[in-house]
Amino acid sequence: MKILYFSATGNSLYIAQRLGGELLSIPQMYKNGIYEITDDVAGIICPVYGFTVPNMVKDYLEKAVIRADYVFSIMTFGNVSLAALTHMKKLLEKRGVHLNYGNEIQMVDNYLPFFEISAQLGMNKDEHIENKINEIAQDLKEQKHFLKGHTGFQKFISGGASAVWGNKKAMNRRDKNFLVNDLCNACGTCRNVCPAGNIAGTGKPDYRHNCEFCLACIHLCPQNAIHLKNEKSEKRFRNPRIKLLEIINANKVI
Ligand SMILES: Cc1cc2nc3c(=O)[nH]c(=O)nc-3n(C[C@H](O)[C@H](O)[C@H](O)COP(=O)(O)O)c2cc1C
Ligand code: SF4
Ligand code: SF4
Repeated sequence: MKILYFSATGNSLYIAQRLGGELLSIPQMYKNGIYEITDDVAGIICPVYGFTVPNMVKDYLEKAVIRADYVFSIMTFGNVSLAALTHMKKLLEKRGVHLNYGNEIQMVDNYLPFFEISAQLGMNKDEHIENKINEIAQDLKEQKHFLKGHTGFQKFISGGASAVWGNKKAMNRRDKNFLVNDLCNACGTCRNVCPAGNIAGTGKPDYRHNCEFCLACIHLCPQNAIHLKNEKSEKRFRNPRIKLLEIINANKVI
């Protein structure tokens, strides 16, 4: 089994690790121009961004050649996923790949403009997450055919959000709103966790406006030196079961 994954703060990486198989980082596959995936079973695990699939995952899948007898996708989300999995299904269909199984797992919402991390942690989703992983692992073992359904209204809203998200030029420039304060000690962590290779320089981060708005640099800065103008609070998040080094190993592209 091969699993393609994308993860900024470790939630999706944790799910990928728990489900097992050979883990393939989408940012690194993309960077290295490796698009062919062949195995009996292939999976895609990533977060929901703006009720749809993250742009980098979309860009990668639009070029990917996936040859597998059974294909699944698990999307992690924080509060409302709407029809993100339907978008995943359509993306794969465009590449001639049938999605046999699609499911989602509600985890901590890392979207700082809307959510406060302490409140998210207070919701204590751990038991739900573990139960859901066990359920999904069993489904995959049985090669169950299932796609979490969505209403027409959910698809409509997801479609609108997807159009906004699809404005890549605007999205890429959202790093213009990042403020780096004097706590920065030039450690380089932000550069190493950026899946887009969007941070240049050797001192304070020098953003190159090719941002995926994944927030990894902000959440994972050891000095908490990077801020969003409109963040709900200063509290940051990394999945507690995933080490910083594991995210660096997954996302480093420079
Ligand atoms: C840019 C961005 C957009 C997001 N949009 C949504 C969303 O539409 N719905 C939702 O429930 N969670 C949303 N989230 C939260 C993430 O999907 C969620 O926290 C996910 O588990 C993070 O996975 P990761 O730790 O693997 O990066 C968003 C997060 C980011 C950074
Ligand atoms: S991770 Fe934080 S402290 Fe390290 S270089 Fe980036 S902004 Fe500075
Ligand atoms: S600059 Fe920060 S928010 Fe933008 S893609 Fe890189 S890590 Fe993610």
